[in-house]
Amino acid sequence: MSDLTTIREEVLPSLTKAATLAELEELRVAVLGKKGRLTELMKSLGAMSPEERKSFGQELNVLKEEITAAFTERKSFLEAEAINERLKNETIDVTLPPRPFVQGRIHPVSQVTEELLAIFSQMGFKLAEGPDIEDDWHNFEALNFPKSHPARQMQATFFMKDGGGDILRTHTSPVQVRTMESQDLPIRIVAPGRTYRCDYDMTHTPMFHQIEGLVIDKSTNMGHLKGCLIDVFKAFFEVDDVPVRFRPSFFPFTEPSAEMDIGCSRENGEFKIAKGKGWMEVLGCGMVHPNVLKASGINPDEYQGFAFGFGIDRMAMLKYGIPDLRTFFEGDIRRLKHYGFIPLDIPAMNIGLSLNGGIKR
Ligand code: PHE
Repeated sequence: MSDLTTIREEVLPSLTKAATLAELEELRVAVLGKKGRLTELMKSLGAMSPEERKSFGQELNVLKEEITAAFTERKSFLEAEAINERLKNETIDVTLPPRPFVQGRIHPVSQVTEELLAIFSQMGFKLAEGPDIEDDWHNFEALNFPKSHPARQMQATFFMKDGGGDILRTHTSPVQVRTMESQDLPIRIVAPGRTYRCDYDMTHTPMFHQIEGLVIDKSTNMGHLKGCLIDVFKAFFEVDDVPVRFRPSFFPFTEPSAEMDIGCSRENGEFKIAKGKGWMEVLGCGMVHPNVLKASGINPDEYQGFAFGFGIDRMAMLKYGIPDLRTFFEGDIRRLKHYGFIPLDIPAMNIGLSLNGGIKR
């Protein structure tokens, strides 16, 4: 009897104190194992009288159940604790670091090209493209530049070395010709792309970017041209009004021809759209010359239209306050980090071109 009391008093508290599963198992073996204290007592039952065996056996069973229950309880507690401990130390960070998005930057020229395309596409213009290496026909001849015309020299053309007569296009206007040659009428396209002239200073680089516009229909006129360009520049600079001025000019492929200036101020080097402060030339435009229509197989008595072309790089410099054109093409990663755009800030007319004028860099 007293044996059972001792076992109960010793074993039950030590079970609840066992700190590890291994310690607990050791305790279990010492009591319930083959040579455990309770097992030994069970063995002694055989030598007892039937009455003794009955009452002692019952008490033994009660104690055995108590110990087993205490053991099971402690075991599941220790197991849960072990799992929690593992979970704490084995946490896996399933989040993806945002570095791929934050580190790369979109070049200002690409961003501004996208901004312009967002504007033009909303106005119903389709995208058109042409090759950087052009032939004489598309870059000059079909655009009404006769062979000996001095305007050819004015363009500072790069000629291909092979003597085949191909050149690096000096403007995006050859895309006008390619479009008129291949597309059905009416036409309403814009063509952004690289252009090349032998020139190099703060505002000129041998490779630069232009965007060309061409609209051909039966009654398209100069008024449409002006309205279209004013709308484009208002949208691009994200202002309610842009003062513009059209000056007569000359291009072999348009008649009449004009250059458009925008009203602006420059205070402390900062460019702003403003009335009455000064003018800056931004583009060339005009009504497509009948000879150009004819060269592309369009009847000038039936169709007419307007065209314009302007520098994309210049637009990026003005809008985002970038002082030196040459830095655009030096490939300096620090410059790109400063002036570049976050790839997810995709310009769109419905959310604001540059996210309310203050695009996050
Ligand atoms: N191609 C001209 C230039 O590069 C611009 C222009 C385009 C002018 C279309 C009139 C019409 O200067």
